[in-house]
Amino acid sequence: MEGYDYAKCIEISKRVRWDIEKDVIKGREFDLTQKFLPDGLALMDQLEFLNEEERKFLSQIQGRTYANMFGFVERFIVAKILDITRGHWLKDQIALEALVRFCDEELKHQELFRRIEPMMGSVMPPGYEFPHQPDLVASAVLKRSTWTVLALILEIELFTQEHYRQSIEPDESLSPLFKDTFFFHMKEETTHALMDELEWSREDEKLTPVERDQAVDQLIGLVAEVDGLLQSQSKADVGYFLKCRNPVLGNDETQRIRDGVLKAYRWQYIFSGVGHPRFKKLFDRLTTESQQQRVSQALSPLM
Ligand SMILES: [Fe+2]
Ligand SMILES: [Fe+2]
Repeated sequence: MEGYDYAKCIEISKRVRWDIEKDVIKGREFDLTQKFLPDGLALMDQLEFLNEEERKFLSQIQGRTYANMFGFVERFIVAKILDITRGHWLKDQIALEALVRFCDEELKHQELFRRIEPMMGSVMPPGYEFPHQPDLVASAVLKRSTWTVLALILEIELFTQEHYRQSIEPDESLSPLFKDTFFFHMKEETTHALMDELEWSREDEKLTPVERDQAVDQLIGLVAEVDGLLQSQSKADVGYFLKCRNPVLGNDETQRIRDGVLKAYRWQYIFSGVGHPRFKKLFDRLTTESQQQRVSQALSPLM
């Protein structure tokens, strides 16, 4: 965002800082009479044949996966941001402090998401699975160029804020603990996206046109891997839903749930980020028209 720099990020970081127990959890527990993920993110309008209780449970499953996904992506986010601090070690100490705070916040976020997963598990029926190993996936992500990884990090940190403001905040029927988790999370994410923009531009200046072109290809490969993970998680989540609720469904309705949850996950983790105006603006500035077309073509089958 224009007019923001690392000093401003430090100022915001100090002002919004929060504590997991004292500010977010406050001795509360999750309550299954309330929804977790709002309809706007869970894309519930396309599953009109489910009754109120079934919709609520599907929102809770998607909300649990949503929290797990954040704890999971933050593993490679911290590793990459720590890696890029190297460029500031002996130079801009303000930038260094801002980026160290960024990493400190993401480590705390991972702790928050590790803390709430068993809290959700203790009230939800057994059988939920989120089998992805954060270190394994992070190692695979970090094999890509820094330019590529920063592109992925920026889209994630933009959609975090967008989801809260557009969908979570206005929904009155959500679990207050779920809502607060993502309210406090979002507050510390605003500076992250600002720093991602600064660092992605900085990294871009170091690349030759050939290296940038390869980085675009790597981004296409990375999004395909993210999609593979979304396909397997949406399948697991729908399997858990059907096993626990065993709803009475018409002919094609099981498939409609599978398609609907996958579509929701693709919206949550890919399209709401790459379609964000700030992502598009910077991506369009850093890439050529033919590179932009390559990315659009790769994304179009996932729509
Ligand atoms: Fe975070
Ligand atoms: Fe972040």
